Amino acid sequence: MAGSRSLLEARIAAYGEAIDVAAATVVNTGTPEHQGLYDMVRYHLGWQDRGGTPSKAPGKKLRPTLCFLVAEALGADWKIALPAATAVELVHNFSLIHDDIQDQSRLRRHQEAVWAVWGIAQGINAGDALLIIAEQAIADVEPHLPPERALGAYRLLLDACRALCEGQYLDLLWENAPAITVDQYLGMIERKTASLFACTAELGAYCAGADAPTRSAFHDFGQALGLAFQVADDVLGIWGPEQETGKSAALDLISRKKTLPVLLGLDSRFGPIADRLRELFAKDSPLTIEEAQQTAHWLEELGTREQTLAYLNRYTGEAMQMLQRAAPGENAQLLKDFLASTLPIM
Ligand code: IPE
Ligand code: IPE
Ligand code: MG
Ligand code: MG
Repeated sequence: MAGSRSLLEARIAAYGEAIDVAAATVVNTGTPEHQGLYDMVRYHLGWQDRGGTPSKAPGKKLRPTLCFLVAEALGADWKIALPAATAVELVHNFSLIHDDIQDQSRLRRHQEAVWAVWGIAQGINAGDALLIIAEQAIADVEPHLPPERALGAYRLLLDACRALCEGQYLDLLWENAPAITVDQYLGMIERKTASLFACTAELGAYCAGADAPTRSAFHDFGQALGLAFQVADDVLGIWGPEQETGKSAALDLISRKKTLPVLLGLDSRFGPIADRLRELFAKDSPLTIEEAQQTAHWLEELGTREQTLAYLNRYTGEAMQMLQRAAPGENAQLLKDFLASTLPIM
């Protein structure tokens, strides 16, 4: 086990380098007069600071790692999945640039969000450019796959992008809803977050030449992993300190996002605290910072942190079961390690 963990670390390092090189190849084109657009993209990707000096503020690259590990678990050379994995990572980064605008979040990966440096309008341009660059990246599967299969990979990515937009729409729409059900919540995070995890796992299988049932099994595994990942992010969004998450704290509560701990709190039968919480969330304006801090305490007192962690553990267990189904046997050891390191039981 310890051996496979260090193997995983070595793989993650190699994958990360390959993704940066492949991403730089698609990003670093364009004439000098447009370089300002790509400077925003390169800043967001953590390659340079706001003045253009090389720096390092990378993301974790979980999605390409998943794509490569699936391809490897199926006996393929991971490099065959490089264009697809690069595209998924760039789509993810497009979604973060726009998400920070939508969530009015000024901090991303311990540095100012693109919009906080260059303004909302140029932030939208940077995100749009990155989405198109992602589509250009996936076009590079063509030399590796016959044209009709390359188109199939492109369609998988497009379906995930569309689901992501739908999820982001619901996420924002429901900020102003007094409450939603846990099923509605799951449908929303399935789209905004799990769709891209499902897509990247399926693309890993697709690029490895897997048959339809195997692809579908990896899709389901990626989806379960993505659900668990977003539930964990919801917990961090309320109780994770800014110094650790590198993201603006308290914003989910200020904007009355219907995250899982909030839903469980709004549904609580636990006397006056739950009533006060419902009153606060019934207002049609954002919470103040003091109200958000108070809410975090109330949610803790109501036991919603433990309840949410119970959901997290359940989805993590489901993801593990789906992985066993998708890749029984020894080949999936690195994927199991990846799952355990991505979703530590909190
Ligand atoms: C953040 O994803 C957005 C969510 C889906 C919660 P990651 O935590 O994978 O972001 P980076 O790329 O590592 O910063
Ligand atoms: C995650 O959004 C999903 C996407 C970015 C599409 P969140 O708003 O929950 O993620 P963080 O917490 O800002 O990273
Ligand atoms: Mg956000
Ligand atoms: Mg968001």
